[in-house]
Amino acid sequence: MKKTLWIRLKQYEDRSYPIVIGTLLLPSLAKELRRRPLAHSYALISDSTVMRLYGKNLLSLMQEQGLRVKAISFPAGEANKNRRTKARLEDRMLKLGFGRDSCIIALGGGVTGDLAGYVAATYQRGIPFIQIPTTLLAMVDASVGGKTGIDLPAGKNLLGAFYQPKRVYISLDTLDTLAERQFLSGLAEVIKSAIIRDQAFFSYLEKNYRGILSRDKRVLGTIVKKSCAIKAAVVEADEYEEDLRRILNYGHTIGHALEAAGAYRIPHGFAVSLGMALEGKLACELGFFPKAHLERQNRLLKKLGLPVSSRGLRKKVRPETLLDMMKSDKKVRAGRIEFVLPLRIGKMKKVRDQVGIPVPEEILQKILIRALK
Ligand code: GLY
Repeated sequence: MKKTLWIRLKQYEDRSYPIVIGTLLLPSLAKELRRRPLAHSYALISDSTVMRLYGKNLLSLMQEQGLRVKAISFPAGEANKNRRTKARLEDRMLKLGFGRDSCIIALGGGVTGDLAGYVAATYQRGIPFIQIPTTLLAMVDASVGGKTGIDLPAGKNLLGAFYQPKRVYISLDTLDTLAERQFLSGLAEVIKSAIIRDQAFFSYLEKNYRGILSRDKRVLGTIVKKSCAIKAAVVEADEYEEDLRRILNYGHTIGHALEAAGAYRIPHGFAVSLGMALEGKLACELGFFPKAHLERQNRLLKKLGLPVSSRGLRKKVRPETLLDMMKSDKKVRAGRIEFVLPLRIGKMKKVRDQVGIPVPEEILQKILIRALK
């Protein structure tokens, strides 16, 4: 099975790129790079775990094709998506002699893609890069759309760049080795894609939850393709997040604050799941998201092993800390915390044709206090 979607970006210049989805794609990727090279030499960047599982194999496959390639790894974990790791990767690339005619291959999860993509965006004023996501979360969200960056102690992704990859290769077999928590974490972004844009896809997820949890390749192929197509359409319409792209952040305003408050130890998707439960509640409280839809959302999240109750976080995270975190988030506009909120499953609310909904602080505070005290 192999399918290619395109993300068409033609503002200023044609930066469209293919998203190739299939199984056992690494050998064909190596051949493809020989046939249609992107650079004189390649820096293969992975975390320590993925380098062992897939990086070494890709390195040999590329060398067999006569490509110049060197591997660079960094310690696994969101806590390493920081300035220090970025500087180390850059210094290593300089030491290994990578120049402007090189290309970065980001092989791994969202941390690797964001970090290596950000290195690519600034290394010698920008060199091309390829995304090879190996986690569900990176396949359905992080590797597509060109958001790159690193975390700061003050919040997630506070430094970064919009920088599109040249190609994305999604080899579904790499999900076989993914730990259960990481797999479930990716499902939160899949459910998010359905809620923001596609009611029929949401029903598909409800009907096929068993196949999803047993990692049936046919079902996984469908959910990855569908999520990538939703994301591609949104990014094509609003690459630089002037408005519409913000819908991809459903659940992320509270989710990012939860992650930052827990110093990035909660898996991203778990934080987004809690974020969707709380932001969905907010939309209910504001009077437009029907309670029955909120319950349907939360039922599917639970069926797919994701958390919807913040009870476990009581005493660990204070509502005031979350509010402070949200105020320093990128989603703040003109000093007000704005949310993207569902109108119903499959459609987001707009006010004056904009998806960003300013929420009075008292209402937000009330929701957070109820959830955490
Ligand atoms: N992950 C949200 C976006 O790419 O816009």
